[in-house]
Amino acid sequence: TSTPVGAKPMMGFNNWARFTCAAQARLDGTRDGYSFQQFMQDQAKAMKDTGLVAAGYTNLTVDDCWMQRTSAGYLHGAANWGSSSQPGFDWELTDYANYVHSQGMEAGLYSTSGVNTCQGVPGGVMGHEQADANSLAYWGIDSIKLDNCGTNQSNRQTEFTTFANALGTATANKTRKILFNESAPAGYGPTSAEKYNSLEWVRGLGQMWRVSPDIQVWHANQPNTGWDWQHGADYYEGGILQNFEDTVSIARYNGPGNHNDADMLLIGDNNQLTLAEQRSQFALWSAMGSPLMITSDVRKMAADPVTYAPQLNILKNADIIAVDQDTTAGGYLAARDGATTTAGTEVVVKPLADGSRAVVVVNKNATATSFTLDLARVGFTNTGCSRTAKDLWNHTTSQVTGSLTTTIGAHDNAMYTIAPGSCGAALPTGQIQAA
Ligand code: GLA
Repeated sequence: TSTPVGAKPMMGFNNWARFTCAAQARLDGTRDGYSFQQFMQDQAKAMKDTGLVAAGYTNLTVDDCWMQRTSAGYLHGAANWGSSSQPGFDWELTDYANYVHSQGMEAGLYSTSGVNTCQGVPGGVMGHEQADANSLAYWGIDSIKLDNCGTNQSNRQTEFTTFANALGTATANKTRKILFNESAPAGYGPTSAEKYNSLEWVRGLGQMWRVSPDIQVWHANQPNTGWDWQHGADYYEGGILQNFEDTVSIARYNGPGNHNDADMLLIGDNNQLTLAEQRSQFALWSAMGSPLMITSDVRKMAADPVTYAPQLNILKNADIIAVDQDTTAGGYLAARDGATTTAGTEVVVKPLADGSRAVVVVNKNATATSFTLDLARVGFTNTGCSRTAKDLWNHTTSQVTGSLTTTIGAHDNAMYTIAPGSCGAALPTGQIQAA
């Protein structure tokens, strides 16, 4: 028996937030003959060359704009996807999937549940569900992100269900299964009943789903883009703190093969975030058990691994990745001290398979803060007993009795795993003893 697809949170690369569908250039700035396909393949190679594939980042998803629908109704690569000047490249995606597989990765595509994608490309699955699912299976594609554009509250569940069934039919006799990545919950209002209702059906159809706005790399005249609250005129532009809040509130929907997706990681060459902010996104996403999808120019990191060593070290932190990949339970909000949207501290606790608890304390303040973590708030009752805490950023261990005090820099975090030792097990998941 093989492990079902999507048993653990997806790790990999998605081009969207960093690049959208703008035509891309080579690293030296030249564009002639540089296709969208070659751009994605170069990111795949860079993922391998930087060691990110070896660290677990094995999915490569190309987002909106890669496709077109031919007059005969078939799904193909867009005009700028492949290039006839590059032998072996074509508008079918077989060569692409083969190349991505050769780098030790899985190939993911994007589509939408309606006719037009969110960028207006008429390549969505509506009316072509089985044919498109068959194309993906024929090409050797490993995952599909299905967006909301073109459907609404009245037909979305039906359309997602039809497509999930089509994927099942297309892969019934194949060893390569296709992971279903659903955007549906994010398409409803932030705290609407419809959004929470949709969680009940998406988890039966697929393995991961977006629940929060599109995380933004850059926004005009907005210095805190990527970090704080909403930036645009509407809800659909988010930052780390907003997407965290939306996602942590539904921790109970996490488990093996079920993952709340807080959207992409802004860790790499996304210059508006400080290293502290990049560390905090990584800690929070892992504590929630979110998919870890890098949106960055990995080609740059591969070309200059010395300059990008701090970012690569965040992304490759094996102790923190292990917290993310532990599907025992989603991380829940255990405490919130003096918190407004952009100030105060947040404490997230995630129960792990070995009985220990991962804990993240994020300092949302613009200045360093001293914080005392009471073990009772992590779910450990016997505070007179000494437990081992491992600092997941410094990789040091210490003994903790009752509480642990640390100083956390602006927008930075402290992250630990705390083992029960001989002191007795933690309280059941989700129960928090008052401080
Ligand atoms: C929506 C999704 C994004 C991205 C774009 C592409 O906004 O939420 O993640 O896929 O569409 O157009």
